[in-house]
Amino acid sequence: MTVAVGIDKIGFYTPELYVDMVDLAHARGEDPNKYVIGIGQSKQAVIPPTQDVVTMAANAAAQILTPESKADIKMVLFGTESGIDNSKAAAVYLAHLLELPSDTRAVELKQACYGATAGLQLAADFVRARPNAKVLVIGADIARYGLRTAGEVTQGGGAVAMLVTADPQILALDDVSSYHTADVMDFWRPTYRTEALVDGKYSTNVYLDFFNRVWTDYQAQTNRTIADFSGFVFHLPFTKMGRKGLRQILPSATPEQQASLTAAFEASQADNREVGNLYTGSLYLSLLSLLRHGNLRGGERLGLFSYGSGAEGEFFSGVVQPGFDRGFDDAFLTQQLAGRHAVSVTDYEQIYQEQLPNDGRDAHLETGNVTAPYYLAGRQHEQRQYRQH
Ligand code: HMG
Repeated sequence: MTVAVGIDKIGFYTPELYVDMVDLAHARGEDPNKYVIGIGQSKQAVIPPTQDVVTMAANAAAQILTPESKADIKMVLFGTESGIDNSKAAAVYLAHLLELPSDTRAVELKQACYGATAGLQLAADFVRARPNAKVLVIGADIARYGLRTAGEVTQGGGAVAMLVTADPQILALDDVSSYHTADVMDFWRPTYRTEALVDGKYSTNVYLDFFNRVWTDYQAQTNRTIADFSGFVFHLPFTKMGRKGLRQILPSATPEQQASLTAAFEASQADNREVGNLYTGSLYLSLLSLLRHGNLRGGERLGLFSYGSGAEGEFFSGVVQPGFDRGFDDAFLTQQLAGRHAVSVTDYEQIYQEQLPNDGRDAHLETGNVTAPYYLAGRQHEQRQYRQH
């Protein structure tokens, strides 16, 4: 008998600051409804200089790890496209901060917003071969397009941490999936740039085309149809994008299924709408949002569409486990989002420019008011100075 493998626990971290999309629309001379309805975002996470992908990942992972589970972690797979070093993996810094055992593999994975999905699938195969092992999978990013760009309204940031195990509490992954790669220049970030280059409209069309391809192929491989799914979870660079994806396939469902799939989508976008794009973590924040706000029952099948510009798309699926709500801390996550505070557009613009400069000079960051358990205090001798409360 094959053992069920999948997501046992999920943690999510985003910093305590956000900018309101109505305020941003006013500052940019746009109709607020364009941002709130047309793009589908209400708030955007503002990332202070004291957080980077390593500290955000540590803050997300700390929520789901115990001394016992740490001892079983045999691999750390860190998906990110906003890494802090071109050589050393963010996973190695993370393993050290979390005090993971040294008999673990730690590597970083990059393919735009697809990195965490690559990590999840590699982790699942690893655990299928070693059912006693646990794998920590991270999706952490800071989405930056630049002030006053078309992409600005789709920025954001944060980290998702997932523990992949045998007999998972949350989602047992089906061992079939469909993936597609093509060399596409829809979004990219050369090593000399701190902000992404993007062909925005084109990227949305490529996203929808990739979804169509992998969903069609998945159905051919499995003989499953839309009727076999209780919800579809999308990579959400902005919530309207997933809504467009769902609309593409809804006509093949009955009116009752259309209503329930639409309700599931509303639940799956609720938290992303408050945070913005966290690139490779976005699909998994959306999964968490559906688990938190949806009406799921154990045994129901979910479909997940992962998209990373450049481009890679994958459609895969999993079965919700009874007692899935024990795999995350709902009250903590609600409080984390509710406890944030708004910054003005002027303050957001200033914070946006306060990231550690790319010139290697020593830097000391103001950390007196930092409340996050893990944070960045600056840089000395070209080494980031990580701290823990
Ligand atoms: P834009 O040109 O500013 O916006 O760019 P628009 O004119 O297309 O308007 C956006 C929507 O608002 C439209 O809705 C308008 O009709 C509507 P749609 O027709 O698309 O349904 N609208 C209004 N609605 C209500 N009231 C109003 C109003 N006015 C307009 N008054 C764009 C938008 C998303 C292109 C831009 O923000 C951008 O370039 N973003 C970054 C790229 C992106 O997120 N692409 C997504 C697909 S690629 C991807 O997902 C990968 C990614 O995550 C990166 C990675 O893989 O690492 C990005």
